[in-house]
Amino acid sequence: MYTPLEESIHLGGKVIFLPRTASTNSELQKFAQGGNLANGTVLITDEQYAGRGQAGNQWMSQSGVNLTFSIYLSDAGEVNAQFQLNIFITLGILDFLKKSGLPAKVKWPNDILIHGKKICGILIENSIGGNRITHSIVGIGLNVNQQSDLPQGATSMAQLTGSALSLQKSFHDLLRSLESRYVQWKSGKTSPLKEEWLSSLYLKGEPHIFTVAGKPLPGTISGIDETGRLTVVTQDGTQVFGFKEITF
Ligand code: BTN
Repeated sequence: MYTPLEESIHLGGKVIFLPRTASTNSELQKFAQGGNLANGTVLITDEQYAGRGQAGNQWMSQSGVNLTFSIYLSDAGEVNAQFQLNIFITLGILDFLKKSGLPAKVKWPNDILIHGKKICGILIENSIGGNRITHSIVGIGLNVNQQSDLPQGATSMAQLTGSALSLQKSFHDLLRSLESRYVQWKSGKTSPLKEEWLSSLYLKGEPHIFTVAGKPLPGTISGIDETGRLTVVTQDGTQVFGFKEITF
């Protein structure tokens, strides 16, 4: 059972709790299609049995030990600014982790890593009308107390700190962090947000061998372009990559 964030102005003032559901993103989408959903409504579950990740992957999370929830955002900005939505969400999660003593990095486009291991995944699904995102479902899976059977390359807050956390308190603290970044994003001052996001970008400025079309590509991440594509400086100049076009 999770309660709403009492002092919330934008996010988490309304919370729908389902003990068990296939995917909080899919379930919240159904509520959104039903209409009259308040901006910032959150749907959260204890047991997500068909969690979805990026690019058709599954999101596995033990029941009752982690946070798996989705946030409904009405009118989430212009279509060509969709990466800014990703930036504000990511920064909110990074703020929460930092306050919990766990500074993290963001691996482009939006995996959250600590010591190179994934602690949080984000799945943002936008509905488009004209040039606007008419609504967005922002799904967040954060490994909080899971200690065993973590997927390879994953970690959790408890594994890193050595102690279990209250899921209810973590949920509220995370919503508070997201809310402050939401306010910044809505104020339209997006360039400082982008700068902060870039300062937490995993491998930025560090030479690395990437994989592109199955072949190694030595280069150095320099940032992102205006639409959020990754820019990499290579011996042939700066190259730009969309999601799935480069792996590392
Ligand atoms: C990824 O890293 O691939 C994204 C994972 C996103 C998982 C969250 S858990 C809550 C929400 N509901 C889903 O089905 N997926 C997202």
